[in-house]
Amino acid sequence: MTVLRILRSHFAILLVAALSLPVDASAHDGHKKDMSDAEMAQMEMHGDADMHGAPSAARDHLASGKTEPAATTAATPVTAEQALEAKIAENRITSAGDLLGRLHPVAAHFPIALLLMAAIAEILLFMRPAWGLEITVRFLVSGGAAGAAAAAVFGWFAGGWRLEDRSETLALHRWNGTAIAAVAIMAAWLAFRPGSRKALRFVIALLAVALVIQGYHGGEMVFGPNHLGLE
Ligand code: HEM
Repeated sequence: MTVLRILRSHFAILLVAALSLPVDASAHDGHKKDMSDAEMAQMEMHGDADMHGAPSAARDHLASGKTEPAATTAATPVTAEQALEAKIAENRITSAGDLLGRLHPVAAHFPIALLLMAAIAEILLFMRPAWGLEITVRFLVSGGAAGAAAAAVFGWFAGGWRLEDRSETLALHRWNGTAIAAVAIMAAWLAFRPGSRKALRFVIALLAVALVIQGYHGGEMVFGPNHLGLE
C-alpha cells in the first residue's frame, strides 16, 4: 500500500516535469534560445507553460491557495505540494552562466533607480545650487554605472551570447542595455571631472530616457507583449 503510494506520488512528479518540458520553452529560455517575439507569444498561448514556466493548471491551483489535489489535463491527480516540488526541481541552476543570467533582474534595478535619482538630483542642483548636491550626484552616478555594468553582463548571460536576435524586443533591449552601461561609465567619469556640468547633464538626460525604454522592454519580455496595457 505504502509502496504503491510512493510510486504514485513519484509518477505524478515525473508527469508534472514531463508536462512542463515545453517550459524549457518558457519566455526565460525562449530568450536564450533565440525565439522570435511571435514564437514566444504562441508558446505562451499553448497553455502548458506560463511566463514563469509553471504548468498553468498547477499554478492557478497554487495561486488559489487550495491544498487538495489539483485537476490537471492528465489522468493522475497532482497535489499542490507535488507540483511545487516538481517546479523547484525544474528550476535548479544548471551552470554558473545560468546562475549569472538569473541575477540579471536583481541587478537591473540598481541602474534604473540610481541613475534616475541622479537625474532628479541634477535637476535640483540646477534649480538650487546652494543645496550642494554635487557629491550626491557623483555617488548616484558611480553606483548607477557599476549597477549598469553588472546588469549588462548578467543580461548577456540571460539573453544568450550572440550579436543578432530573432526577437525584436530582445535585440533592442540587448543593445540599448549595452550602450547604457558604456555611457553610464562615461557619466561617472564626467561626474568626477571638475569644471562645466553641461556634458554630464546631457549624458544623464540621455541615460534617463534610455533607462525608461530599457525597463519597458524588460517588462515586455518578462510579463508579455503590451504588459502595461497601453495598446
Ligand atoms: C543597464 C542595462 C540593463 C537594464 C537596466 C535591464 C533591465 C531589465 C529589466 C528591468 C528586465 C525585467 C526584469 C524583471 O522584471 O524580472 C530585464 C529583463 C531581461 N533582460 Fe535586461 N537590462 C539591461 C541589459 C540587458 C542586456 C545587455 C541584455 C542582453 C541580452 C539583457 C537581457 C535581458 C533578458 C533576456 C531579460 C528577460 C529575463 C528573462 O528572460 O529571464 N538585459 N532587463
